[in-house]
Amino acid sequence: MNVEKICVVGAGNMGHQIALCAALAGYRVRCTDTDPRALEKAERFADTYLPERVAKGKLTEEAARQARANLTFTPGLEEAASDADFVIEAIIENLEAKRRLFARLDEICPAHAILATNSSFIVSSRIADVTRRPEKVCNMHFFNPALVMKLVEVVKGPHVADETAAVTVEVAKRMGKVPVVLKKEIYGFLVNRILAAINAEALYLYDMGIASYEDIDNAVVLALGHPMGPFRLMDLTGIDLAYHIGMERYRETGNPADRPSPVVVEKYVRGEWGRKTGKGFYEYGEK
Ligand code: 3HC
Repeated sequence: MNVEKICVVGAGNMGHQIALCAALAGYRVRCTDTDPRALEKAERFADTYLPERVAKGKLTEEAARQARANLTFTPGLEEAASDADFVIEAIIENLEAKRRLFARLDEICPAHAILATNSSFIVSSRIADVTRRPEKVCNMHFFNPALVMKLVEVVKGPHVADETAAVTVEVAKRMGKVPVVLKKEIYGFLVNRILAAINAEALYLYDMGIASYEDIDNAVVLALGHPMGPFRLMDLTGIDLAYHIGMERYRETGNPADRPSPVVVEKYVRGEWGRKTGKGFYEYGEK
């Protein structure tokens, strides 16, 4: 199967950079979002990021021009997805919202199109059954910031056709990523399961008053060699995401241990969601 046109649904934290990765790789990309502000912000990002890469000597002017020409932002889902060969969903981490979207995508998209979800935790078999093409629905999970992080997890659930996994791996490679294939579905895949264990311990130590978040971050950076500590990383990936992931898991398991930690709930309610709101655990100058 030849992929030329990619639709990215969701222009938020992940979607806007996934769309740019695809445009830089030469795909024709349509990025859509129900929130016009997110769409505008994503377009503004593309318009500043590409010239900055040229100024830094990381991209030729021609490559930047071509990538920008490959990328369209549109509020209409139908316009964005109706001729797509490959769709990457990057909307809110909520199962019902994803199921509604995939049912609609199934109606809109050409029969050959693969529908991939960038969900952080939810396995695609929880979504695929709303479509008439479950064999073409899989997980394709990028990491934040998607323009920088090399890994992509491709999850081969029991319903996923070999060709779907193979095409998804090829798309990831063409975007310059290193795909890893999970042979079975597991909630949270590889990376977020490991990260969740680190975050749970860091939040426990903080909530218990054992150390400040700055010191816990320093410990992880300076002793374990991580590029950033768990609190700074939560600010990057979004405290709203940490909240939704915890709530989604809790709804599913009913286990109180899966609920978001007190400080995550507090920050979520206050709208202190990290870099995207200008304040999370740390303060950021510009939103
Ligand atoms: N968007 C795009 N590019 C960015 C960026 C951003 N938000 N932040 C940094 N960069 C680029 C810079 O332009 C620079 O590129 P260049 O070297 O080609 O010029 C490069 O990244 C390095 O940037 P800096 O020198 O400014 O900063 P650092 O060296 O501190 O790197 C970092 C920043 C890449 C974010 C690094 O701190 C890092 O790797 N942090 C860990 C990130 C991580 O763990 N991500 C996974 C999170 S888990 C996840 O995403 C799962 C999901 O489901 C939530």
